[in-house]
Amino acid sequence: MNRARIGIVTVSDRASRGEYEDRGGPAIHDWLTHALASPWEAVPRLIADERALIAATLRALSDDEACCLIVTTGGTGPAPRDVTPEATAAVCAKILPGFGERMRAASLASTPTAILSRQMAGIRGKSLIINLPGKPAAIGECLHAVFPAVPYCIELLGGVRLETHTDFCAAFRPGEAADRTAMR
Ligand code: MTE
Repeated sequence: MNRARIGIVTVSDRASRGEYEDRGGPAIHDWLTHALASPWEAVPRLIADERALIAATLRALSDDEACCLIVTTGGTGPAPRDVTPEATAAVCAKILPGFGERMRAASLASTPTAILSRQMAGIRGKSLIINLPGKPAAIGECLHAVFPAVPYCIELLGGVRLETHTDFCAAFRPGEAADRTAMR
């Protein structure tokens, strides 16, 4: 079976300078380890909040590293240095607005300031790119909210079939009866 390659990109000035430990990247890795039942490998990156650097990193993970999924954390807010959504939009051919809407809606149930996140998702080539906020606590909330649609999206792009542990996160594929039951 083909091993899925998944880019995990922490965007943080301070973590990239070593001023504090990157907790977002490892939190994404942990979540995916719980969720995925099929073979995968992480392609991690830790970079500063520089628009050109973020865009170049996303391009490389998609075009050269053949990642079917790229998950970023950080840089989605309104502060001057927060430019991850702009860099993501710049490298994507298609935007998937439902991802941002769904993640903000889920996060707002617990966090009023979730509305400050401009997180988005889009398609570059055969890669789905998803932005998450920088707070490690946001990572599980946001991934749980959108991940059921991720394996089918990757299949629509011609990528590998991602299997999930259904008790942790059930993938939904239109037409598959078991998945319909899992979503009820
Ligand atoms: N979403 C969740 N689920 N949990 C959070 O704690 N923090 C919010 C928001 N989304 C948060 C969240 C805050 S305070 C900000 S400023 C924005 O995400 C942007 O965060 P970022 O710039 O670190 O990406």
